[in-house]
Amino acid sequence: MERQTPQPSPAPSAPLDILILAAGFGTRMRSSTAKVLHKLGGRPLIAHVCRTASALVKGERPVYVVVGHQAEEVKEAVRAELGEGGAVFVTQTEQRGTGDAVFAARDVLGEANSTLLVLSGDVPLVRAETLGSLVHQHRTHRGRGAACTLMAVRLEDPTGYGRVIRDEEGRFQKIVEQKDASPEERQVGEINAGIYCFETRLLFPALERVKPENAQGEFYLTDVPAILRADGEDVSVYAHTDAREVSGINTRVELSEFERILRLRTLRSLMLNSGVTVIDPQHTYVSPDAQIGRDTTLHPNVHVEGRTVIGEGCQIGQGSRIADSRVGNGVTVKDHCVVVDSEIADHCVVGPFAHLRMNARVEEGAHVGNFVEMKKSRLGSKSKANHLTYLGDADVGERTNIGAGTITCNYDGKNKHPTVIEHDVKIGSDTMLVAPVRVGARSVTGAGSVVTEDVPPDTLVAGVPAKVKKKLPRAEEAPETQTAEEELTAVNREP
Ligand code: UD1
Ligand code: CA
Repeated sequence: MERQTPQPSPAPSAPLDILILAAGFGTRMRSSTAKVLHKLGGRPLIAHVCRTASALVKGERPVYVVVGHQAEEVKEAVRAELGEGGAVFVTQTEQRGTGDAVFAARDVLGEANSTLLVLSGDVPLVRAETLGSLVHQHRTHRGRGAACTLMAVRLEDPTGYGRVIRDEEGRFQKIVEQKDASPEERQVGEINAGIYCFETRLLFPALERVKPENAQGEFYLTDVPAILRADGEDVSVYAHTDAREVSGINTRVELSEFERILRLRTLRSLMLNSGVTVIDPQHTYVSPDAQIGRDTTLHPNVHVEGRTVIGEGCQIGQGSRIADSRVGNGVTVKDHCVVVDSEIADHCVVGPFAHLRMNARVEEGAHVGNFVEMKKSRLGSKSKANHLTYLGDADVGERTNIGAGTITCNYDGKNKHPTVIEHDVKIGSDTMLVAPVRVGARSVTGAGSVVTEDVPPDTLVAGVPAKVKKKLPRAEEAPETQTAEEELTAVNREP
């Protein structure tokens, strides 16, 4: 164990810079997408590392990222996480190994008087606290700080990783890559996590001395610690105990294992900290960026993606998928709904088998039933569209009932047009609303109507195309024997 007890603080430390290696391709993923772009918990691997890095530099210094393979896409993923000025990119034109990748940053970092924390774009779960203690050990090593501190961890199966070789006294000697290791060295269970602190002014001269004389013909960053040690510099090893946290992803099998770890971590926190009931954690998928309120229940096979916010006391039925949406309090989303980029207000009931997308807005207490699709549409408070309906580019007012099989015919083959249905309207079953069209307040359409012209308020229309049948008395004037529902029933029964 070379972890040091903190000593009286040394001379004020040089500032911290962070360099993330993300130029490699990741052949073992067997993918046409660069490894660091593969997603974990819905976000690219590189985004996870960037978020942790920016927590460490507290947004005060940029994060340096080495890009190469699919550089534009990787830059895009980094910018999406850190914002425009959050990162400085360095290009490694040819991927000649991790040492070469760091060397690519010489122009921007070579002269810096800093401590350089080097991270891999494929180690997504490492926590900022862990990196903080690595940096602390590096700076306080033997009271004066080390030239290099590397993170090591013991693995039951170290296959594939670089091994940390120590001498009889347990002092660091060198790192040997799997492909260069002797049979005895391969027995070593302590591996290099690929996370290091270097004193920048010592790192770059040492990198110049790295030679690609190894099984892979690459410039290994892992040769640098031994070079520094041979120069009489202090190299310290930070022995970490949580193997999962600091191990990298090389294959899709590992990616799926990480996905499971991250998923269970998220669900655990929802249950323990947020008071969410998760009936079957093995089959529930919640993005780490989602928020879910107290006493909400997630039934099996629910997916909550992106930055979705779900309120308190909701029931999310099995097989439903909610992505980048807002759901209020006391909402019931029944089984097998798809809700994307949409909003469901308090006390609504949605589903089963409803599809809300592209800014669908369901207002307080409204009901959306089975096989109803809403796109770019609002359904006003207490309104209902309960069966087999398409509402596209529609604005529906309050307390309106949309009968079964209603379609807003919003597309004329070239353009999309809006439909407005005002409050307290009764749309009869199987009504086609040929947009652009407006149905005035309290009006009624007969079953099977094809509405091609605006309907004024308080009017009953029916037929193909729909014609005005009569003006309707306002509720307060209506004879007590005939409610609007009875009107509608009567109209719908007309031959
Ligand atoms: C590396 C270490 C190994 C360690 C392991 C931990 C070396 C030589 N080996 O091996 O000791 O146990 O990480 O996960 O460093 N990259 C570039 N440019 C390149 C090559 C790689 O930017 O030319 C980037 C990759 O995108 C990746 C990171 O460096 O993010 C690590 O590269 P990878 O090829 O995965 O290294 P390993 O073989 O896993
Ligand atoms: Ca790796």
